[in-house]
Amino acid sequence: MPAPNIDTIVSLAKRRGFVFPSSEVYGGLGSAWDYGPLGVELCNNVKQSWWRWLVYDRDDIEGVDSSIILNRLVWKYSGHEATFNDWLIDCRKCKGRFRRDKVFDKVSETDDGQAVFNSKDCPTCGAHDWTDARAFNTMLQTKLGAVADDDPSALAYLRPETAQGIFINFLNVQTTMRRKLPFGIAQVGKSFRNEVTPGNFILRTREFEQMEMEYFVAPDAEHSKLVDYWVEQYLEWFHSLGMNRDNLSLYEVPKGERAHYSKRTVDIMFRYFPERAEEERQWEELMGIAYRTDFDLRSHSNKPVDEEGNRENPDSTEDLSYFDEPTKTRFYPHVIEPAAGVNRTVLAVLMDAYSEKTNDKGETRVILKLAPQLAPIKAAILPLAKNKPEIVGMAKAIKRSLQPILRAVYDDTGGIGKLYARQDEIGTPVCVTVDHQSLEDEAVTVRDRDTWEQERVKVSELSEHLQRRLQS
Ligand code: GAP
Repeated sequence: MPAPNIDTIVSLAKRRGFVFPSSEVYGGLGSAWDYGPLGVELCNNVKQSWWRWLVYDRDDIEGVDSSIILNRLVWKYSGHEATFNDWLIDCRKCKGRFRRDKVFDKVSETDDGQAVFNSKDCPTCGAHDWTDARAFNTMLQTKLGAVADDDPSALAYLRPETAQGIFINFLNVQTTMRRKLPFGIAQVGKSFRNEVTPGNFILRTREFEQMEMEYFVAPDAEHSKLVDYWVEQYLEWFHSLGMNRDNLSLYEVPKGERAHYSKRTVDIMFRYFPERAEEERQWEELMGIAYRTDFDLRSHSNKPVDEEGNRENPDSTEDLSYFDEPTKTRFYPHVIEPAAGVNRTVLAVLMDAYSEKTNDKGETRVILKLAPQLAPIKAAILPLAKNKPEIVGMAKAIKRSLQPILRAVYDDTGGIGKLYARQDEIGTPVCVTVDHQSLEDEAVTVRDRDTWEQERVKVSELSEHLQRRLQS
């Protein structure tokens, strides 16, 4: 049973130290969230799983970590300055401001792929008196250096995607790592968008984290098949994180909704809104897999010319083309891009892991059935009696001995029932209890989070036993 709605996760996340509303002491900051002691571990585990899976387990992907603030020209030639827009409309009566696609229904597309919308009444006041739609660029601006407020040369942007930091480093990575096509470059890091309508907890925020990979291939590669390939790969990865396939679906993004660089995009959707009645409104994008053609490498290069022979990019000092030895040809590699969000992945795994169970006394308990690789804490070491120095000493020694191998905590802040319930609720796969008998037989009780079954394990075999269990 997954979480019935996002609100259930908001409350669990705050109660148990995963995610807090940001800047709460000053009344908060709309749609900004801080990750607490367990949230930061969960995020790190998601990112580490992704990095291991792509950069370590495969042999065709390198990693980079580029600057968040890049030369402004990057965003000019990537097309973001001109096209990274949301379309806004205002209600003339109540002055409410909305994103057009969130209020109006898209009814059709023009021949050149532009969306046609069916106007609706204002959701706030019910009036039907709209302004024309106008473009709002969602890149967050900042200023570099000690300059006057109105000095346009100081303008810079916080990156709206990590991808461009990969494209501008394509040649650096390819030559230093002696790579031949096909190969990929992965990057994980913060991105920023001045979203008009952020909301739904960590689903849409102005500051978020992305895990992006640009996979460079030849111009005559089977691009559409490669999109399908990466969709399948990511479905498997999400499954390995414990997500139920029934809560994932695919959306072939129509031309009018695709980004300016994309010839094909497939979104992997997650059922973030199971409480909603209509099928299609239950889903929201978890990630997208796009075929970006050679758009980015070509637009950042100094060689391409227009019909009149003028350089398309007079500012670039480099040609980001690739020489293919076997065919003795030079070209701009094409790109398949799987782009995922850390925060949306975290929300999806939390929703899917959520379950409830009734104990012998008829009380409902929350169990967070996180995949062991994602669990913030892998094992909690609990003393049955905290007033017995020998038991406490043994429990603390076990915690210390396990720590180099796995994340373990010692906890004596309540009775054993309460301690088990707390660990179940934060997704700790096993609890290890030290009792009076442990002092005699050098064994402990290992309790399973999901089944509540217990078994006795020798302390000398504990580390190996836990590692085996946590591998699943
Ligand atoms: N480089 C391509 C790109 O950025 P995108 O679909 O705009 O594509 C990729 O973003 C992923 O980043 C999304 O699928 C989502 O997981 C995450 N993302 C985008 N905007 C977000 C936001 N405002 N808040 C949280 N996550 C976001």
